[in-house]
Amino acid sequence: MTAEFIKPVIWEGDAIRLLNQQKLPGEVEYIFLKTIEDVWDSISELKVRGAPAIGIAAAYGLALWAKKNGSDDLQTLKTDLTEKSAYLNSSRPTAVNLSWALQRLLKASGEEASAEKVITRLETEAILIQQEDEETCRRIGEYGFSLLPEQATVLTHCNTGAIATSKYGTALGAFYIAKEQGADISVFATETRPVLQGARLTAWELQQAGIDVTLITDNMAAHVLRTKQIDAILVGADRITANGDTANKIGTYGLAILAKAHGIPFYIAAPLSTIDLHTATGDDIVIEERHAEEITHIAGKRIAPEGINVFNPAFDVTPHELITGIITEKGIVSGDYESGLAELFEPARI
Ligand code: MRU
Repeated sequence: MTAEFIKPVIWEGDAIRLLNQQKLPGEVEYIFLKTIEDVWDSISELKVRGAPAIGIAAAYGLALWAKKNGSDDLQTLKTDLTEKSAYLNSSRPTAVNLSWALQRLLKASGEEASAEKVITRLETEAILIQQEDEETCRRIGEYGFSLLPEQATVLTHCNTGAIATSKYGTALGAFYIAKEQGADISVFATETRPVLQGARLTAWELQQAGIDVTLITDNMAAHVLRTKQIDAILVGADRITANGDTANKIGTYGLAILAKAHGIPFYIAAPLSTIDLHTATGDDIVIEERHAEEITHIAGKRIAPEGINVFNPAFDVTPHELITGIITEKGIVSGDYESGLAELFEPARI
């Protein structure tokens, strides 16, 4: 059975139609983004989230700005695009897909000789990024599935599904493929505090796809790993550095330690656009810190005392030595990440 996928970002030519992920699972609401500020706010407020999806949204955001406001003077347009790209890139600091997508647009459009052609190229390149991501995620899903036993029970964290990408998802892609192939797969999904991407989004997406999913709170993970015969943990990534250290949703590092303690394989699933060879190690990754209200409030209701100090990092870094393998669209890297990841970017040898 092939799952139906809901698209998080839809290009309308003069606007972006965006699935408002803040409203899920209660409501499937699409909103229209008509300005670059709308795009910045939507990324910052997590209406669109997940590393590949925010890259796609930002790419369309830049194309949208250029189409509506771009100068017909080539030099002025190029200067403005650099500035607007930096603005969009400031919406969230950790996921490298954001700057990757924007840089790709600037590089591709930089080859054009007129302002008109630059504007057209920005749009076609953004569309291409989204189209390529579909195929990329499909391959990640297939490689991920190849690692699972015939009857698999897996655990995942945060949300890495179709709505975090263009289609299929990364770690969740493996589960969709398993379902498609008629394999027997059960998933434990952590709720993922503080903003509950697991409870609100992963549980919903897997349920929609007819995949057996059981929701747990984050602090149940150790008990589940000990008692539920978990075959593997599969999660996504927001930035993978040259040595394989991986930033992903807060709580991922703890799961990797638990996986090691229980002798369970721990896999990262991510596209090449999430690999940042320019950053040497996880120590160099900027970790986004978000509003205190994400912790002091649940669904708008205060649950902690007024005036309490709060520390709210949105991501943590898992050191590469805790990672069994990194699943990409070009295959699975393990062991020596430094050379294995670099090789993924080498031109194909005949
Ligand atoms: O804060 P979020 O919801 O954007 O965090 C998302 C994650 O950490 C995902 O695991 C990651 O972006 C991979 S999405 C395929």
